Amino acid sequence: MSTGPEIDENLHDSLPEPLQSEEALHDPFDWYREQRRTAPVHYDPKREVYDVFSYEHVKAGLQSAEALQRKRLSGSHADGQTPFSYLDNGMVWSDGPDHKQTKGQLFKYFQPGLLADLDASIEALCKSQLETALEDGTQFDFVTDFADPVPLRVIMDVVGIPESDQQQMLDWLNTFRSVMNSEYSAEESRDEHKMEATVEYFRELVAERKANPQDDLISNLALESDLSDAKIGANCFDFILAGQGTMSELLSNALYLFEKHDITGEEHDIDVVLEEVLRYRSPLQSRARITTESVTIADTEIPAGKTVILWIGAANRDPAQYDRPEEFVPDRKPDHLAFGSGPHNCIGAPLARLEAPVIMRTVLEYFEDINLIEEEAAPMSKASKVGFQKLPVETQLA
Ligand code: HEM
Repeated sequence: MSTGPEIDENLHDSLPEPLQSEEALHDPFDWYREQRRTAPVHYDPKREVYDVFSYEHVKAGLQSAEALQRKRLSGSHADGQTPFSYLDNGMVWSDGPDHKQTKGQLFKYFQPGLLADLDASIEALCKSQLETALEDGTQFDFVTDFADPVPLRVIMDVVGIPESDQQQMLDWLNTFRSVMNSEYSAEESRDEHKMEATVEYFRELVAERKANPQDDLISNLALESDLSDAKIGANCFDFILAGQGTMSELLSNALYLFEKHDITGEEHDIDVVLEEVLRYRSPLQSRARITTESVTIADTEIPAGKTVILWIGAANRDPAQYDRPEEFVPDRKPDHLAFGSGPHNCIGAPLARLEAPVIMRTVLEYFEDINLIEEEAAPMSKASKVGFQKLPVETQLA
């Protein structure tokens, strides 16, 4: 199969050999350490990618706007007529002035001041989800019964998607992810029917909110921005996609580390501890870029048109950047790369930073005791993510 730039980044997410076990996916940090120790950049002939591991070079790579660019989603379509070319309108899939202009208009809706009144509704949502999770007894899966649905509901409320469409939205996110993860994603993304219903839904929703504005992001963008309807719809889909999985992984990593390090919320400031969780087990461990020209990274010359994998998870444990990098230090206050850096940095970081502490405080207060059933836990199956697909817990109410 060709590995040209039009092919989505997940082809290059095919697992590096040392990460081909559940143990290594759960704990890839030994591999990173060894790689970083020998050289900051390695070429992997099997995956045909250049892997970058040091903080300095990962950060520079994320900040590079010209030489290293994001890949397009569908590549061949630019007209918005097919489902994937409509989704191509998301800023995640663009670079340069178009990306900058779109992000400039979206940025202000994610400022902390505008999000502050979400606290009470997030807490109420957590409690109701915990009640549902406990309907069958004291054990539940922290991921599927809690960490997956809660952030999904939060971001759907922000965007303006009715609650009744939640299950449908989750199915669409999963279809999109399965196309992106498929070995045949380049072909599948040209399939007229894949994601057709999703795109139709967003087209209709934008038109409907234009006609009958509500108090939500879709309506605000339709009324206040000069973004095209397709840009509004595609970016709102991306907010839901980007805001759901990463948050779920942050929450499950947080619970896992809180349990390992006896973090109860009484002795620690949860906002501060969560920054160390983000450094220590970053939900997004890597990002892919394509070289638009020949570049040299740490003495390694990389020709144009090659895939570069920037390992955020390795950068966040670089001893050149942090004291005792392999140690979880709850009050460290790290300057980390978990939300990226530079032009594509995470627009949802203020929302994540507001949401995660409210959720984790509510969980800690809700239970007298919460214990991991580790033998039944399952890590994420992609090298670009660290978190859990499954994290069963046994609980005792407060
Ligand atoms: C713990 C939670 C989160 C983590 C760890 C995270 C991480 C990241 C990272 C690393 C990037 C940079 C991608 C790149 O450089 O290729 C990014 C971008 C992005 N994130 Fe997040 N994110 C989180 C939550 C959210 C939320 C709640 C939203 C909802 C709005 C969101 C929306 C986005 C979008 C739209 C982008 C693309 C920005 C662009 O291309 O300019 N993220 N995120």
